[in-house]
Amino acid sequence: MQCSDCSHDNPPEARFCLECGEGLVRAGVACQEPLPPTAKFCMHCGARQEDAAPAPEPPAQVDDAERRLLTVLFCDLVESTRLSRELDPEELREVIREYQRVVVTIIQRHDGHVAQYLGDGILAYFGYPTAHEDDEARAVRTGLTIAAEVESLGTGAESDETVHAEVRVGVDTGRVVIGEVGAGGRHDRLAIGAIPNVAARLQAAARPGQVIVGEATYKRARHVAEFEAVLVAAKGVDGAVPAHRAVSLTQTATARDSIADGLQTKLVGRGDELARLTAAINGAARGVGRVVTVVGEAGVGKSRLIAEARAGIDSEAFTWLRGRCHDRSIPTHYGPFADVLAGYCGISDSDAPSVRWGRVKDCIDGLVANGQLSEERASECVSLIARALAIDLDGQEDDHLAFADGAQIRHRTFAAIADMLIALTTWRPLVLELDDLHWADSASLDLIAHLGERAPSHPLALVCVYRPNHGHGCERLPEIAARKCPGRHVHVAVRELTPEDGADLVASLLGVESTPAAVRETVVDRARGNPFYIEEALRALVESESIVRDGAGWAVADSLDHIAVPDSIERITLSRLDRLSPDARRLLQTAAVIGRSFARRVLEAVTPPHIDLAVALQELEDGAFVTREYGSWDVQYAFRHVYTQQVVYGAILSRRRQELHGAIAEAIAELYPDAAAEQAETLAYHYTQTEHGERAVEHLMSAGAKARGAYLSDEAIDCYHKALQTLEHLPESPANDRHRARVQEALGRIHHGAGHGDAAAEHLRAAIDIGERIGVEEGEMIRLCYWLADVYWWKGDYARLCEIGEMATVLLADARDTVEEALVNQIVATGAYFTGATDLWRDRLKRTAEFLRDLAYCEELRPAYVHIWGMRYSERDMA
Ligand SMILES: Nc1ncnc2c1ncn2[C@@H]1O[C@H](COP(=O)(O)OP(=O)(O)OP(=O)(O)O)[C@@H](O)[C@H]1O
Ligand SMILES: [Mg+2]
Repeated sequence: MQCSDCSHDNPPEARFCLECGEGLVRAGVACQEPLPPTAKFCMHCGARQEDAAPAPEPPAQVDDAERRLLTVLFCDLVESTRLSRELDPEELREVIREYQRVVVTIIQRHDGHVAQYLGDGILAYFGYPTAHEDDEARAVRTGLTIAAEVESLGTGAESDETVHAEVRVGVDTGRVVIGEVGAGGRHDRLAIGAIPNVAARLQAAARPGQVIVGEATYKRARHVAEFEAVLVAAKGVDGAVPAHRAVSLTQTATARDSIADGLQTKLVGRGDELARLTAAINGAARGVGRVVTVVGEAGVGKSRLIAEARAGIDSEAFTWLRGRCHDRSIPTHYGPFADVLAGYCGISDSDAPSVRWGRVKDCIDGLVANGQLSEERASECVSLIARALAIDLDGQEDDHLAFADGAQIRHRTFAAIADMLIALTTWRPLVLELDDLHWADSASLDLIAHLGERAPSHPLALVCVYRPNHGHGCERLPEIAARKCPGRHVHVAVRELTPEDGADLVASLLGVESTPAAVRETVVDRARGNPFYIEEALRALVESESIVRDGAGWAVADSLDHIAVPDSIERITLSRLDRLSPDARRLLQTAAVIGRSFARRVLEAVTPPHIDLAVALQELEDGAFVTREYGSWDVQYAFRHVYTQQVVYGAILSRRRQELHGAIAEAIAELYPDAAAEQAETLAYHYTQTEHGERAVEHLMSAGAKARGAYLSDEAIDCYHKALQTLEHLPESPANDRHRARVQEALGRIHHGAGHGDAAAEHLRAAIDIGERIGVEEGEMIRLCYWLADVYWWKGDYARLCEIGEMATVLLADARDTVEEALVNQIVATGAYFTGATDLWRDRLKRTAEFLRDLAYCEELRPAYVHIWGMRYSERDMA
């Protein structure tokens, strides 16, 4: 059959051109059934093909073709020519329709896309229009299911005979361009590139009932099926090309059970710990809440223990929400709770503030509608939770909070978050898992204490997981829990595995009954009962082929005396890193700079285009370096163990690290333009690791402002101090000096609000000094004077207060009837009052009273109203 596009002569059975991949089958003009391109009449309905006037070319459209990683499945009915000879055309049609129905149902069940019917061939895509992480696995499952299910097809109502039908299936994965192709009024969105041709060739090479897949598909789907290596003759290629025959589907769990395949193993030991944890959760479910603290060294198995408890309970009977802290020099305020709430409300990093706000509101409204939360509480809960999540609301919510001070708002925020979580418990018991609390911010720890106090009267299990971290607030959690939740606190210390359990773990990791004694001893001894170490050491031995498969067991390939089982996890991890492909290694390093968890889109944005992200990520998943996180709204991965992230990070040259931090910060800012406030700490963290000091300062200031907005003074002070430290290393420049003044002012005012008079005075004085030096505009200087005067008043230092009054008067010059004049009068009047100059006090207040009502209200004017009212009141008394 000649290709209409490139004129290549193809064999008669070809559906696609062997040379250019063009489809060789067209559709009948009347019935749209597939036809060979040379047909003059339709073989299905008899319509004359030439009769159809060529349809006009559609108007030129914007070309929206896209490059994609695609898995193509091509499946064809075997010996349809024989069937067409043996069966009556009507019966044949029935068979073909039934076959198509079966195949399409299977494809759709696996979320594949039927791209084209080509006679009795069916072309399907996995990865378009919707991509999945496991498209290759889906295609292989689909292929094997089709092969199994198309074994016998009935011939329809008119015959009871059974027709023996079989298919051949070919699958391959690779980059294609997907776009509109076609002419003459018939257009399809098809994949162009080598992959569809290869899939067609693999299909042609398969024997009846077989599924043959290409190398790229095999690599990413090898855990879902048993495969057998085969050689396939390929046109245009000398000799045969290697491919794989998918033999049968495997049970995913067993295929992934052993370390050679990289993933989870059976739990060893931990019977007591698991029993106590599960009992606490079940106890909470009966309405008497519990606080469970789980502590243990890195890698000892805390998270695994929690995961086992979760897997062991009836998931339908509980709501299980999870939040985690991250190892950052600038912790996210309410970090683990922000995770929990974002997960529950369905908020993703890329959502605009209005969408985030809407999601929080919808969730709270849902609780109100179900009678789980009172209507009166709802609006304050929305405002405060949105504030805690740093959703920028343009001040809309502030009505409720206008007259509350910082400490009150902090407490009310705790109450709002707790109310929402407790409202959830009226539906079914809630397990709140908060992991890695050794990195928690102080607001989160205080909120845990608040929740702990309320837990005993609700079906709530608060599971707090952390490593010993000397000096960090998490260490006080057991004591706080015991105090706030007396008799309802369970403490689980996760210790190293016993040597017997360690040996059991080695055997289970290798998937064998008995392990070479040398391996067991070397690994178990060195690991000192740390399961993470055991896993990593064994992976290193397998990957370096120091131990190799030997029938059903394993053999030591070399004397273990010569094998360096590294004595630290760090060295093991580095040796494993060295064995990765260059692309995967580079990707892992970039991911380590992003953090313990990383969004795929951020990683993609900073990965050079020549790296095939999907393939390299798969290599990292296969090697158990990273794992896909389910339940998050963006496609998210995490290092399987934080220690790996830290080791990989530590091994990157500092120059390279800086470049990566900078690129990552830029990518985050670009990808989430609406979430600058939410991402403030993250951006600040990345920029502080670069030489972009100015940007680091900007984001540290935003993070400080965010914490201040949420009334978290300690966190705000911390951010502004870091900004100040960064500024110390930056050159003198007008912009940097302005930042210095702003940071000093912010620190002064936060310390003032927190009652730290000396620190407040010191920072505000510094802000004024910088302001004088760089010539800050008078209005701003007067505000600074006002706050410093307020600090002196609070400290009872009236002499200094009067000095500030004089300074402010000079700055004011003759700016009459302004906010500035009102502030200067206020400073002078206060100084006068406390130094006994009552006439001056009265004069200044009366002067302000003349124009105060004409000014727009601002926070600093409040005392002026109060004092004028006081003055008038006392005058009335005297009168
Ligand atoms: N009892 C166990 N049996 C089998 N495997 C285990 C056991 N405990 C832990 N592991 C495995 O060891 C690895 C480390 O465990 P895990 O991540 O739970 O440690 P962790 O205590 O949470 O560490 P970190 O404090 O760093 O988060 C995991 O791969 C886990 O599956
Ligand atoms: Mg953990």
